[in-house]
Amino acid sequence: SKLPDYGYWNLRKERMSKYRFQEDKIRNLGAGLLLWHVLQKNRMDYCTIVSNAYGKPFIRNSEFQFNLSHSGDYAVCSYGNGESGIDIESYNNVDFEIAERFFDKREAQLVKEYGEKMFVRLWTLKESFIKVEGKGLNYPLNSFRICPSIMRKLEHINGTYLFSVANDSYVESDERFHFTEF
Ligand code: COA
Ligand code: MG
Repeated sequence: SKLPDYGYWNLRKERMSKYRFQEDKIRNLGAGLLLWHVLQKNRMDYCTIVSNAYGKPFIRNSEFQFNLSHSGDYAVCSYGNGESGIDIESYNNVDFEIAERFFDKREAQLVKEYGEKMFVRLWTLKESFIKVEGKGLNYPLNSFRICPSIMRKLEHINGTYLFSVANDSYVESDERFHFTEF
C-alpha cells in the first residue's frame, strides 16, 4: 500500500496481488524494484509496460526490452536492446519424472546420467529460451533440445537451426540466440 500510485507501480501491484502468500508477494516486489532500478538506470522510467497475450511484459514502442524471473530468495532481470529470456530456480527434492515426461528424450537421458544439477541446468536453459518468445508453455518443451556438448548448442528437432553459446567467447557464425549461465 506504500508503493506509488502510478503506471509502473500499479502494474506491479496488480502482478503482486495474484499471489496468495506473503513470501511470494515479497519476491515479486523484489523483482519489481529490480526492474525499476534497471529502467531508471537506462532512462526508461517513463516507458509504458504492457503484456502480450501470454503474460510476457514488454515495453511499448521500444527496442529496449527486459525479462524477469524470481525464485527462492532471488529475483533476476535481463535487459538490453532486443528480446531476452531469463530463468532462476531454487531447488530441492527435484522430481526427475518431469524430465522423462516433458523433456526431449536425449535431455531426459542426460538427467538420468548426471542427476539433479543437470536437471536444473536444462530446466533453466529451456525456460529462458521459451521466455524469449513469450508464449509460455504453448511452446512445447520437447520440441527443441539443449545439446549435451556442455550445453553449447541448441538444436531444433524439426531440423531448423537454433544456436548456442555458453558463457565464454565461443560464437557460432549463424547464431541468433546466446546462452549464459550464472
Ligand atoms: N514469457 C516470458 N516472460 C513472462 C511470461 C511469458 N509468457 N509471462 C510472464 N513473464 C515474466 C514476468 O515478468 C514474470 O514475473 P512478474 O509476474 O513478476 O512480472 C516472470 O516472467 C516470471 O518468471 P519466473 O519467475 O521464471 O516464473 P515461472 O517459472 O513460474 O514461470 C513462465 C515461467 C512465465 C514461462 C510461465 O509461462 C510458466 O508457465 N512456467 C511454467 C514453468 C515450467 O514448466 N517451465 C518449463 C521449464 S523446462
Ligand atoms: Mg521460472
